[in-house]
Amino acid sequence: MNILVIGSGGREHALCWKIAQSPLIGSLYCAPGNGGIADVATCLDLDVTDHAGVIDFCKSHEIALVVVGPEAPLVAGLADDLEAAGLMVFGPSKGGAQLEGSKGFTKDICAKYGIPTAAYGRFADAVAAKAYVEAQGAPIVVKADGLAAGKGVIIAHTVAEALEAIDTIFGGAFGDAGAEVVVEEFMEGEEASFFALSDGKTTLALATAQDHKAVGDGDTGPNTGGMGAYSPAPIMTDALCAQVMTEIIEPTARAMADMGHPYKGVFFAGLMITKDGPKLIEYNCRFGDPECQVLMTRMDSDLVPLLLACAKGELAGHSINWKDDVALTVVMAANGYPGNYKKGTEIKGVDRASEGTGANIFHAGTRQSDGRLLATGGRVLNVTATGKTVTEAQAKAYAAVKLLDWPEGFCRSDIGWRAVAREKA
Ligand code: AMP
Ligand code: GLY
Repeated sequence: MNILVIGSGGREHALCWKIAQSPLIGSLYCAPGNGGIADVATCLDLDVTDHAGVIDFCKSHEIALVVVGPEAPLVAGLADDLEAAGLMVFGPSKGGAQLEGSKGFTKDICAKYGIPTAAYGRFADAVAAKAYVEAQGAPIVVKADGLAAGKGVIIAHTVAEALEAIDTIFGGAFGDAGAEVVVEEFMEGEEASFFALSDGKTTLALATAQDHKAVGDGDTGPNTGGMGAYSPAPIMTDALCAQVMTEIIEPTARAMADMGHPYKGVFFAGLMITKDGPKLIEYNCRFGDPECQVLMTRMDSDLVPLLLACAKGELAGHSINWKDDVALTVVMAANGYPGNYKKGTEIKGVDRASEGTGANIFHAGTRQSDGRLLATGGRVLNVTATGKTVTEAQAKAYAAVKLLDWPEGFCRSDIGWRAVAREKA
């Protein structure tokens, strides 16, 4: 069968790499793709905001399944339009994507279905939001309701900071995303990411991971899209995973179906493991990037039947096998990221780095040009390795990083630190 993947990041390279290994695959396309995806799929210059154009392409190329990587096309209703045209899609409808697109929407579901999460208030004006902050005290968390590229969350250590954050958001710092504000209880604990598939009725646990959001070693500096990840998250025991399925994922799937938005795709739950058990921080309606890179590396089963089953509503009866090894990925980014950075610098040594170490390098912002590999984005490469332990996978990934020749790029030197410390203890 022919498959079209939408997106251009490391996540989509990992998805294409995994899909390309399926015996079921005929032609694999990716729009727009990147310099690494071009090795496993045909990259397309297709405007994914032009839904009619995507539908035309799918019909003329007999696409049996469209896999949507990023959230923006989902929030824009690409899945709805493709399905209305009779196409199969992995990725939720616009209604389903509200789980990521509106924090208030998700919090209201949690309240209605008893899903454990931070206590909260949802506000459309500053006066009421400030009164809530004054009543609750600090520390407290202030969030813009909508998509704010990961920047719309302010952890306020004092009431004054929280009040200022409310003014910043209602002042328009995040545009329409800040038309509403969610104020919530500050939760203490360790964070973990949990992934589960859903076909609208049935859910199936995937795996866990831990991300590194801050740009600098020791979790310092500004937040990024993610500077590295590993899977599984050691804190997530089998018992905790089962608890997350019954207390968080399954009620969410039920809620979405009850609301008329049966959810087809992946639930990406950001969790805080508190002393009272796992609590939901937020949902994303897509795979994480770079979490997807470590998930796909560890998955032993064929991904294609699983994605198709989600799209068709036939997930019941499926199971997934995972490799015993852990996987870890180190993100290489252009110097200056997440601020300003140069584009068009040349990266050398990618083949040597993977051949010399067994590491697998997923591309994000890259482009092939006359036999040269050029950096075109902020996050550029995902150097991914496996091992019996996180310590071993980490050593292998950094050995591969050393073999890369890209003076204009950098990475964190401590990806996996939390798990490595646990393994040493
Ligand atoms: P988000 O953009 O919603 O993923 O939030 C960014 C980060 O803020 C999360 O990964 C957490 O580290 C932190 N965070 C968000 N909400 C809370 C909360 N209620 N309590 C503590 N930390 C939080
Ligand atoms: N790595 C975090 C995310 O994809 O949202």
